Amino acid sequence: MKRSEINRLMQEALDFFDLHQFKLPPWGYYPPEKWKALGSEADEIRENMLGWDITDFGSGDFYNCGLLLFTLRNGNYHDPANKKTYAEKIMIVREGQMTPMHYHDLKMEDIINRGGGNLCIQLYLSDENGGLSDKPGVVSIDGIEHQFKPGETVTLTPGESIALVHRLYHKFWAEKGKGMVLVGEVSQVNDDKTDNLFYEKCGRFPEIEEDEPPLHLLCSEYK
Ligand SMILES: [Fe+2]
Repeated sequence: MKRSEINRLMQEALDFFDLHQFKLPPWGYYPPEKWKALGSEADEIRENMLGWDITDFGSGDFYNCGLLLFTLRNGNYHDPANKKTYAEKIMIVREGQMTPMHYHDLKMEDIINRGGGNLCIQLYLSDENGGLSDKPGVVSIDGIEHQFKPGETVTLTPGESIALVHRLYHKFWAEKGKGMVLVGEVSQVNDDKTDNLFYEKCGRFPEIEEDEPPLHLLCSEYK
C-alpha cells in the first residue's frame, strides 16, 4: 500500500471516530517525531502492538478486501511478566469490504456494531482438519443463543454484538447501501503474528511504498 493512501485512510478514520464521538488515547494522535522522543516508558504500546493497523490482507485492493483497526489495549502471550489477559480494538469496516474467512486458536472475541451501518458476518464451524464444517452451530448474540446453518450470514445492526469462540470461522463486511460501520472488538489477548488462521492464505501487514511522510506510525513501525 502507498503511504499516501494509508495517511488518507487515517484522516478519514479520525473524522469517522469524531462523528461517533469515539476518542483515541492521546498517543493515537502523536506524529512520528514524538515516538522518537519516547523511551522505555512506552514499551507496553510498542511490545503489544497497540495503535494504528491498516491492512489489505495482501490483496492489493483495500476497498474490497481490507480493514482499518486501532488496538486500544492488549496483553502479550510471549511476555511472562504480562498480566493483561484481554484486548480491545476499534475498527472501521466499509460497505462490501471483506475481512477474509479466519478463526483464532487462542483469542475468543466479541465483535460489536458500535454505530453507522450494518455488519454482516458469515459463520462456519471448523472441522477436525481446519476446514469448513458442514454442521450447524450455536453462537451468542448479545447473550441470546442463535442456531446457525453452515455458511449462514448474521447481520448486526448498531448496538448488536456476537461472541466468536475459538476455532469458529468468521468473515465480515459492511452491508451495501448502509454506510461504514464502527466496529468494536473486546477479546482475549490478541496475537496478529500467529493467531489469525485464514481459510485461504493471505497477508496481514502490508508492504508500504513511501511516497510521502507518515501522518501516524502503524503498530508495526515503532521499532
Ligand atoms: Fe477474528
